[in-house]
Amino acid sequence: MPSDNKDYRHLTVDGQKLHPETLMMGYGYDPQLSEGALKCPIFHTSTFVFEKAEDGKSFFELAYGLRRPKPSEESGLIYSRINNPDLQVLEERLCLWDDAQSGLTFSSGMSAIATALLTYLRPGDWIAHSEPVYGGTEYLLHKVLPQFGVRRIGFAAGSAEGMEYAVQTAAANGPLKMIYTETPANPTNALVDIAACAALAREHATAQHRPLVVVDNTFLGPLWQQPLAHGADLVIYSLTKYVGGHSDLIAGSCLGAEDVIAPVRGMRTILGTMSDPMTGWLVMRSLETLKLRMTCSMKNARYVAEFLNDHPRVRQVHYLGFLEEDDPQYDVYRRLCRAPGSTFSFEIDGGETEAFRVLDALKVAKLAVSLGGTESLVSHPASMTHADVPAADKERMGISDGLIRISVGIEHPEDIIADLRQALAT
Ligand SMILES: Cc1ncc(COP(=O)(O)O)c(C=O)c1O
Repeated sequence: MPSDNKDYRHLTVDGQKLHPETLMMGYGYDPQLSEGALKCPIFHTSTFVFEKAEDGKSFFELAYGLRRPKPSEESGLIYSRINNPDLQVLEERLCLWDDAQSGLTFSSGMSAIATALLTYLRPGDWIAHSEPVYGGTEYLLHKVLPQFGVRRIGFAAGSAEGMEYAVQTAAANGPLKMIYTETPANPTNALVDIAACAALAREHATAQHRPLVVVDNTFLGPLWQQPLAHGADLVIYSLTKYVGGHSDLIAGSCLGAEDVIAPVRGMRTILGTMSDPMTGWLVMRSLETLKLRMTCSMKNARYVAEFLNDHPRVRQVHYLGFLEEDDPQYDVYRRLCRAPGSTFSFEIDGGETEAFRVLDALKVAKLAVSLGGTESLVSHPASMTHADVPAADKERMGISDGLIRISVGIEHPEDIIADLRQALAT
């Protein structure tokens, strides 16, 4: 939304580079273009009026990539499947956290993933991906993409040798077009070394292409991990989780360099997988408190993890803050992550019956899938989010019947702990 007043995009004040949390209040929005409204209004409109036919022509030329923009020329507003002010302002703000050049918002995390993968994978191509990944992504990789002739090979998150083997195998059968990872892995918190993925992608580049490194950063991002800085080409979010943060919307995003994002933008326009203006506005509201929420839940999670770690009924807590220096994952954590986040799983003595008893007894934490909201949520991965995964694979990935996942919220930590204490006493 350009105007003569360029203040709405200033990134520094008196030599001070402004931080993303400061810029979330107004960056990319010019009140003068909206009757002085402090907040960006919701542009509930399907289409936009062109002042002149010549404007419509030039906007379409840019939107369809028929010509390169002139210096400081921006695409005008056309139609809300192509662009909309709420989405454009939101996309500019999302880019700030990951220091990305360009960004896109989507109707869900899954539509962001599906649109990015459909943009870059063609029949005969290979994708090497970490395991486990979110159930919807797993279905896309195992059941949907093979129908389009895309071939896949998985590797265990946390296994550097496994990743190297998978990438080499896929490249040998080639063409290997993408290395896809979700790190930390859901629900085990196993980490994939993004920098090592990028190095492997460079190693297996051919004269025609280099495999793209795509990272689902939903669990730790955008505050505690920034994959683009470690060599990823695309970073994907389910904005439904921490970024939306209030368990009241479904959305996704995809960020990266403009030349990598541009084809995804084209695909989004054709598939119509963009977010809607109301949701875009809600995510902007959420971004204003993102740092507060993620910091609070991260601090709460440490108390909760320590309580669980000391509890006699708890066998293991998969909390990144407990990684020991002699663990190979510790080095990956130290290089890639700024904090352990607030979603992790823990294993109790017993199986499904015992886990269900604990889950049913919780009063403060709500029994629901999803994560990253203000409220604490608990779930049973083996029978819920990962119900579809064959039993042998679940065992291999450590998704046991006694495993409970918790997304720690921003309640008072003593209340969350009291709740867990009484539920574990049942
Ligand atoms: C890591 C991860 N990626 C992607 C998704 C899909 O996001 P959405 O539900 O917004 O489509 C989820 C959903 O739980 C997830 O946990």
